[in-house]
Amino acid sequence: MRKGAAAEVLSGWSHRHVIDLAAFSLADYTTVLELAQRFRAMPVAGARRLPALQGRLMTSLFFEPSTRTRSSFELAARRLSADVQSFSPSSSSLSKGESLLDTARTYVAMGTNVLVVRHRCAGVPHTLARDLDRCGERVAVLNAGDGLHSHPSQGLLDLFTLARHFAPEHPSPAALRGRRVVIVGDVLHSRVARSNLWALTACGASVVLCGPPTLLPAGFASFVDAPPPGQLQDPVAERGTITIHRSLEEALPGADAVMTLRLQKERMHQHLLTSLDSYHRHYGLNHQRLALCGRPVPVLHPGPVNRGVELAGELLDDPRHNLVEEQVRNGIPIRMALLYLLAAGEGLKAA
Ligand code: NCD
Repeated sequence: MRKGAAAEVLSGWSHRHVIDLAAFSLADYTTVLELAQRFRAMPVAGARRLPALQGRLMTSLFFEPSTRTRSSFELAARRLSADVQSFSPSSSSLSKGESLLDTARTYVAMGTNVLVVRHRCAGVPHTLARDLDRCGERVAVLNAGDGLHSHPSQGLLDLFTLARHFAPEHPSPAALRGRRVVIVGDVLHSRVARSNLWALTACGASVVLCGPPTLLPAGFASFVDAPPPGQLQDPVAERGTITIHRSLEEALPGADAVMTLRLQKERMHQHLLTSLDSYHRHYGLNHQRLALCGRPVPVLHPGPVNRGVELAGELLDDPRHNLVEEQVRNGIPIRMALLYLLAAGEGLKAA
């Protein structure tokens, strides 16, 4: 990318860290989607790498398992010519009693510019970013999923995937305005759903949540009504609506897209479901149910999928509906955009 064009993209960007999409304005979504679209259009074969982040170092600190997110961040960093380093908690000095902050500072001392953090407890990336700022460290923290709280890069890649589906040439937030997006499943345990609620309502979509009361408490209808604790105001002037339906038969008619969520069995400490069979009978998506939308609509899932539980195998394998692989593909340019915005900013300002 030309330096002038890059400076233009960066001029409106004010985030030092990316922790929660609740802090994103419409302009932020536009910036990320525009950049991702440019990165997505660049050939992967041939030259392969853009020099944008040459000399920068991304370190991934993953305290929870991950197949997609971690490899996608690492690939994104490499495509921008950054160096990549990753940390495994079990073989690290954390097991000898070193604090997380001291571990992070060790990586900063090695030259890390961006720390990509995943943790099973909500709030860890936020606290780490705050403590590193207090210590005067110049490093950006990117939340790769914290407990039930937030998964901003997934929310953004879902938004990008939907925007590209509705407006392939100009995938901007406007592509979502007035669209009915149904999110079905384990909303309670899903950081992906929470990030999608901020992103989709910011773009003016009408979000319909669907699930049993044990996995979808009624309070989710007012999820975006107030900014989260610690944030003074909502950066988005007017948001789309959130409604709750308990049955797919009510939720699906008129839908423009359906997003299914994994049942997060590892986070369910009570018997919230009588059986997986019964869940699939009531909330599993298949061709017959999808027909209730009244038109062909795309189906998303953040992965990993419990095949035959959230989604019938035949639907998961049907390329006419399934955007699951497209989500994975779009994750790379979205993460390139985020890394670029966080890591290139300092360099350009200094230049
Ligand atoms: C999600 C996660 O880890 O929150 N997966 C992902 O990042 N693609 C969703 C999930 O685990 O169900």
